[in-house]
Amino acid sequence: MGDRVENIRRAIFVYGAPASGKSTLGRAIAERLGVGFVDLDERIVTEEGTSIPEIFKTRGEAAFRDIESKVLRDLISGLAGEQASFNLRHGAAVVVSLGGGTLLRDENRALCEERGTVFCLDTPSDEELARRIGAAPGSRPLGDRAKERAAHYASFPNRVAAFFDAQSSLVVVGRGIAPAILAGRNVVADETVARLWAGRLGVSPFATIPSGEEHKTPATVASLWHAFAERGLGRKDTVVALGGGVAGDLTGFAAATWMRGIPWINVPTTLLSMVDASTGGKTGCDLPEGKNLAGAFHFPKLVAIDADFLDTLSPKLVADGRAEMVKHEAIGLAGKPKVESSGLPSPAEIAENLMVKVRIVREDPLETLGRRILLNCGHTVAHAIEKATGYRVSHGEAVAIGCVEEAKVAVRRNLAPASWPGELAARFAAMGLPTSLPDGLSPEALVPLMRGDKKRDGGTVVFALPCGWGDVRGIRIDLSKESL
Ligand SMILES: NC(=O)c1ccc[n+]([C@@H]2O[C@H](COP(=O)([O-])OP(=O)(O)OC[C@H]3O[C@@H](n4cnc5c(N)ncnc54)[C@H](O)[C@@H]3O)[C@@H](O)[C@H]2O)c1
Ligand SMILES: [Zn+2]
Repeated sequence: MGDRVENIRRAIFVYGAPASGKSTLGRAIAERLGVGFVDLDERIVTEEGTSIPEIFKTRGEAAFRDIESKVLRDLISGLAGEQASFNLRHGAAVVVSLGGGTLLRDENRALCEERGTVFCLDTPSDEELARRIGAAPGSRPLGDRAKERAAHYASFPNRVAAFFDAQSSLVVVGRGIAPAILAGRNVVADETVARLWAGRLGVSPFATIPSGEEHKTPATVASLWHAFAERGLGRKDTVVALGGGVAGDLTGFAAATWMRGIPWINVPTTLLSMVDASTGGKTGCDLPEGKNLAGAFHFPKLVAIDADFLDTLSPKLVADGRAEMVKHEAIGLAGKPKVESSGLPSPAEIAENLMVKVRIVREDPLETLGRRILLNCGHTVAHAIEKATGYRVSHGEAVAIGCVEEAKVAVRRNLAPASWPGELAARFAAMGLPTSLPDGLSPEALVPLMRGDKKRDGGTVVFALPCGWGDVRGIRIDLSKESL
């Protein structure tokens, strides 16, 4: 019985406003989890033998809702039978996309919330919602109904935004969504994350990765291969990474190389990995000779970003992620960033910020066209600072300082107004980040380290100079001729 109930809870119900993309998302999640998919509206049409507008027209909305409730009940009780025999290693057993008003009835909502997880697509603006509900088959013109509906959708705890990275990598951002993604899967977890979260999530990882960048090594990749072998993972199996950028990069790389490549799913748990490392398809490990030297492009088929994980991050780790968020604001924002963000970012903020990277990656998935260089904004100086300080300055701190230093370079080259570095520095400072070089470290000391940066191109270094909000430019600078 225990297993049965557990299995039933693994259903994912995709819900949201009419025309919000429920069927597309439901189908995409099911495909990536390798489980069945049911579209409730389609099932109603099949069972009734007529279209939904026709049912509304001839029998009215109340009758439609009765039919809908019955089809939903039958579907869920049918699943209980199917899922009871479902192998535990296959996780979520079904994804169901609901109609735009299915959960207006309390009994339906209770049923879905008890038997699975409702992923409610984030509600669009009131006007957009009014337009969509107005355009929905059979519904009457609306006034306050759009507002009521908006409140209804907003009342679901697990609201999600979804989009595609390059190479059909599906990104879902929300809250409370990780348990349904992880249930019964082949999870590789960061040790700290496993300690803090495995119990709460109800997952037991088959392999763990010791926490910390010092473990991002070929030896850890090899230990994952051995764990894959012991688990008997074959070409059709999927591994799931649960952890920060280190766990994601290592698990992705182990997946890229296991039997010449098996699919993987990424569940990032630090802010930095949510807004940066989780997308873009880069996987790999460090060598004594340098960071990220061994690696492969291997896009995860699904990235599930659950903002609940932020609750256990230290303020320092939140600040590290915030640094990359400000970098994205500099790259992708037209105009100044919105007012002061305090506290932890919401899923909507994470999704919007991540889109900056995703748009660039889509244009240049494998970094062959030079577009992805923009994502390196502030990083040429940042990497030099990290090296010069023996990595005592964290990556996020180095990015903040690096962006400000590079903004000064932009000013000297007349690419930005004199006020720009100060404006950018204020934004980083508001996130609790440093904005000037640590005592005793001069810009001159950084130059040889930058010339050794892997983005070096002949005698010159390509910088992605921040020149204003939404204005980052790839500029070649010959450091042998020009000082910083
Ligand atoms: N693939 C890419 O495109 C890409 C992009 C940027 C960075 N990276 C890589 O990402 C790594 C940095 O990522 P990171 O900052 O996430 O580092 P990380 O994975 O080392 O995580 C930082 C620390 O946070 C802990 N942690 C993770 N989730 C937690 C949680 N929810 N609560 C409490 N503690 C938690 C970890 O155990 C670790 O100690 C670097 O190796 C970098 O090279 C990759
Ligand atoms: Zn970075």
